Amino acid sequence: MAPISFARGAPAPECLDPGLVSDCARAALERDGIAILSYGTGGGYGPLREVLAERHGVEPGRVFLTTGGLQGFVFYAPLQLQLQPGRVLVEAPTYDRPLKILAREKAEVVALPMDEEGLDLDALESELSKGGPVSFLYTIPTFQNPSGRTLGTDRRRRLAELAAAHDLAVLEDDPYGRVRYEGEAPPSILELEGGQRVTFTSSFSKTVAPGLRIGYFVVPQDLVAAYDDRAVSTYISPSLLPQATVHELISRGAFEPNLDRVRGLLKARKDAMLDALAAEMPEGTRWSTPEGGYFLWLDLEDGVDAADLLTRATEAGVTFVKGSDFFPNGSGGHSAARLAFSYETPERIAEGVSLLASLLR
Ligand SMILES: Cc1ncc(COP(=O)(O)O)c(C=O)c1O
Repeated sequence: MAPISFARGAPAPECLDPGLVSDCARAALERDGIAILSYGTGGGYGPLREVLAERHGVEPGRVFLTTGGLQGFVFYAPLQLQLQPGRVLVEAPTYDRPLKILAREKAEVVALPMDEEGLDLDALESELSKGGPVSFLYTIPTFQNPSGRTLGTDRRRRLAELAAAHDLAVLEDDPYGRVRYEGEAPPSILELEGGQRVTFTSSFSKTVAPGLRIGYFVVPQDLVAAYDDRAVSTYISPSLLPQATVHELISRGAFEPNLDRVRGLLKARKDAMLDALAAEMPEGTRWSTPEGGYFLWLDLEDGVDAADLLTRATEAGVTFVKGSDFFPNGSGGHSAARLAFSYETPERIAEGVSLLASLLR
């Protein structure tokens, strides 16, 4: 039997709807086939940019569609490091792939602590007050990858104020915000700051399908030309057919019902994992309790080595990502793990947690 994967940050196969996507692709091609099959602009399919611009209350020219959200980071990081050389501030822990991109750029990365409510803003303020140039802050404020934590509204306001006071560029990465199962959504940092220094990015990977590879960036007005230049000189224009397909899906009113369906499937998985953890984990193990997203963070008892646990778990048939992968140079998280509840069925989730707990006891 295939191992039970708590490692894959991917949607369960049931979340994907090939029938709906193929219907929308056909309708889009029939309506606007010549434009879709031609070269487009660097920013992507115009009608989808317009929908997203309206969602965020900005000019369509400030919305750039990219080949997945991560591609946008590949544009953003070197551009921002060139415009404003300096330290890059990240959350500890943070999404591992941007850490790899930043290492490739030879950026000086400073990891700031988090608690249950997200980034520690006192730590951010004290880092900013040290002086010396800061290039940008990279934050994932909602259902963070890897911790599942969400930055509270008061902290978001303070972050927006700090960005203004210190002229700090911020990249707000929010692919999971709409994948909310319960509770109220806080405002985005983009909204609170007004979009002068905050670049917002999200993606249709978690709401429709990752294989479509559609991410988007809402960039400050003064970065528009530089983005356009990056996009045009990288791929001329991103792939228009998936973007037109998602535009069709939104304009025929199918986006929200599909997302509700996805939320239902994933909430059942999240609940299954939380229930199993509460029932099975030994005392001293703690975990985050996200209201949405794909992941939760497991803090093992002090002294338990997550790398060693991973080796034993893999042999027993269950995988996860060890915490240290989410810290620059593996500088933390040695007794922690990221568990993805997004991929497996609720039954296999219960089985996998039970296996992990038996290895910890
Ligand atoms: C925080 C975060 N940002 C960006 C991405 C990239 O998503 P995509 O490139 O599929 O849009 C992911 C994917 O897992 C993510 O977790």
